[in-house]
Amino acid sequence: PTAEKPITSALDHRFAPTLYAQVGQPQSWTLDAYRRGGGYQGVQRAFALGPDAVIEEVKKSGLRGRGGAGFATGLKWSFMPLNDGKPHYVICNADESEPGTFKDRYLMSEDPHQLIEGMMIGGYAMRAAQGYVYIRGEYVLAAERLWAAIHEARAAGLLGENILGSGFDFDIQVHRGAGAYICGEETALMNSLEGLRANPRLKPPFPAAAGLYGLPTTINNVETFCAATHILKYGAEWHAGMGTERSKGMKLFQISGPVARPGVYELPLGTPFRELIYDWAGGPAEPVKAIIPGGISCQLLKWSEAILDTPMDYESLAAAGSSLGTGGVTLIPESVSIVDTTWNAVRFYGHESCGKCTPCREGISGWMVKMYEKLVRGHGQPGDTALILDMADNIGGRSFCALADACMGPVLSSIKLFREEYDAAERGEVRRTLAGRWRDA
Ligand code: NAI
Repeated sequence: PTAEKPITSALDHRFAPTLYAQVGQPQSWTLDAYRRGGGYQGVQRAFALGPDAVIEEVKKSGLRGRGGAGFATGLKWSFMPLNDGKPHYVICNADESEPGTFKDRYLMSEDPHQLIEGMMIGGYAMRAAQGYVYIRGEYVLAAERLWAAIHEARAAGLLGENILGSGFDFDIQVHRGAGAYICGEETALMNSLEGLRANPRLKPPFPAAAGLYGLPTTINNVETFCAATHILKYGAEWHAGMGTERSKGMKLFQISGPVARPGVYELPLGTPFRELIYDWAGGPAEPVKAIIPGGISCQLLKWSEAILDTPMDYESLAAAGSSLGTGGVTLIPESVSIVDTTWNAVRFYGHESCGKCTPCREGISGWMVKMYEKLVRGHGQPGDTALILDMADNIGGRSFCALADACMGPVLSSIKLFREEYDAAERGEVRRTLAGRWRDA
């Protein structure tokens, strides 16, 4: 693609952007613009290869799920039964709600045909005739642009029956959520799509065995489907040639907090934090003490030269005691209280708990939120942090879905890395932060 697509970045980067190549171009969301950029060539190659070879191609590319968990995409696709005679579904998880994560919204609002093509490729490979995009309710523009693009694609014979003479029938519906974080959990998402309350289901069975309406289903993130589009267009080797040995391809990294140029940057997996923060985002605007590496559910990392040199890939971040997550990097400045920042995260999880299981409902929403409030309001007592740790021990690993575990990420890591701030809070010395600055409690 480097020959066809000029390198647009200010830095003479090794790789041209692909996922975000159209973002910011005039009328980039229209079929005309998408076709001018070489759109719908990936799906044509898929039709030429045949469905099984498409799955092999995605496997060979090394693509891993970009929603946060990093599960091997080709392997997930291969779990779908081949000739069971039942309807199959592909679902795009577009319920992007992880704090610090804002990459999928622009993929959908600026380049919706890229997602449609990725879902067509997935649908073809996995023998699905129906796709759903479950989109976060607040993403109004993205939902409107997606619908408009679907109508354009239908009118052009790219969705519907016998697409491009391939014999493949496929259509897509967009379903807007109503603002609940839990709907991004794949089994809660399917319940919501079925019109039920969005409580998670037990796994296994995984969705390929029993998914939407109990039928074989595969759920992938927006960025994952978009990456599949380019893998089919340019080939598995092209994709496998970027990134690290086990973390392949380009990734949409997001950066927020006190930096000169917050935003979304498309960089190869394995790019060090230092390059994202300094070269691309213009460097910290004030002293920083911690990094959230990939959305709030990841363990915090303490700001240090060694962390700045850590490559942002699945393995390196696991080795550093955290995870790549969604690639949503947030910097926490020195000037804010880590206890207050963590209270904010805990309140978020408490509010978003679906209430189905006791450790999450009573442990986070009921108890932990109150413990943090006590500390932050200056009423801390000796032993409060130990009590929070004891509660965390009874919540983490004991809840029905990953939401409670996710909340334990910032709780446990902030206590481990910034114990002195918790000790001060126990002495009633915590100062709340207002608009990011210290003020007296
Ligand atoms: P998970 O590891 O349970 O599953 C990941 C995917 O792999 C799922 O689709 C699952 O069905 C599949 N899978 C895993 N093991 C399997 C097996 N043995 N057989 C068949 N399929 C299998 O992770 P989960 O709970 O789906 O996602 C957690 C991640 O979500 C976190 O790492 C977090 O970063 C991310 N996240 C992203 C958000 C966003 O807005 N993008 C919001 C919240 C969390």
